[in-house]
Amino acid sequence: MLTLGIETSCDETAAAIVEDGVCVRSSVVASQHDLHAEYGGVVPEIASRAHVERIVPIVRLALDGARVSPGDIGSIGVGHRPGLIGPLLVGVSAAKSLAWTLGVPLIGVDHVHAHLYAGLLGADRPAFPAIGLVVSGGHSSIYRMDSPTTLARLGATIDDAVGEAFDKAATVLGLEHPGGPNLERLAKGGDPEAHKLPISRLGKDSLDFSFSGLKTAMLYAVRGRPDAGGNFPRTHADLSEQAKRDLAASFQHACVSAIMLKLGRASDANPDCRTLLTGGGVTANTTLRDALRAFADERGLDLRLPEMRFCVDNGAMIAGLAHERLRAGLQDDLTLAPVPTTAC
Ligand code: KG4
Ligand code: ZN
Repeated sequence: MLTLGIETSCDETAAAIVEDGVCVRSSVVASQHDLHAEYGGVVPEIASRAHVERIVPIVRLALDGARVSPGDIGSIGVGHRPGLIGPLLVGVSAAKSLAWTLGVPLIGVDHVHAHLYAGLLGADRPAFPAIGLVVSGGHSSIYRMDSPTTLARLGATIDDAVGEAFDKAATVLGLEHPGGPNLERLAKGGDPEAHKLPISRLGKDSLDFSFSGLKTAMLYAVRGRPDAGGNFPRTHADLSEQAKRDLAASFQHACVSAIMLKLGRASDANPDCRTLLTGGGVTANTTLRDALRAFADERGLDLRLPEMRFCVDNGAMIAGLAHERLRAGLQDDLTLAPVPTTAC
């Protein structure tokens, strides 16, 4: 069966055609990075308008890319939570209209859970239960999964998501939005041990994350301590290129260490989980990918890392999880509504 997946939760308008939940026939992503760059973050109203303009051409490109016509589509999945309400509304409305017109099942998908499906695209089915790790711009969460559609959250960030921290650190270093990939580039050639930035542990058994302390420490490391009036003694422009590289590498090292610390705890507490599913924009980070591979090797875990193109937001992961939900009898009707928060 061919599933059309639609994704519009933030600043990517995306659509994909996936066959039987795993074979990606096409995947089209229109990023809005250029529209938001001058604001240093995503502006919801600008994002909504861009989704409205792009959604029909993007779905058409996905159909053309897979060399299929609308009548060949057997089901439609849409990321309907969590995200920005205006952007979500565009994707949900498009999915509902198409499902009603074509007379095919409509399946609402949790975007965060779909990130965990990204590593299963084009792959054989792993054993469950599994540990799931999502590290993205909006979420940093660890799950215990009994199947791709049955999951319980074990921990999540209590403040910023790790991708958000990367983006803020990049801004402080004078890099452009989106900061994650630019910071990673700058970190190459830097010394990860140059600055001892804080790695949050929280309670002894906590599987939650916290990145706000690291973010502040990074701000002070770049600009120095502010005076009583809140004025900083310097900016990134006063630093040498090597100093900036060292700061970027140290920040990246602290983020990856914090993620691996909590993953280790989760794996210790769930020894029956022999599979590790990962996803979200930050899994595109090479230092994190290397750390995850080393961790899985050491513990004999079956690691599923998404292909680079499926780390960030895309329609294929939505279509894949939608197919899985349909198989499990989890279908929606035309009352499906966008929801700003994740299901769990
Ligand atoms: O999954 P995603 O596309 O959107 C959300 O669901 O949030 O993730 C986007 C996030 C951004 O914060 C971006 O800076 C980060 O993923 N990111 C990276 C890298 N590529 C994307 N962070 C660190 N290193 C990267 N290579
Ligand atoms: Zn995402």
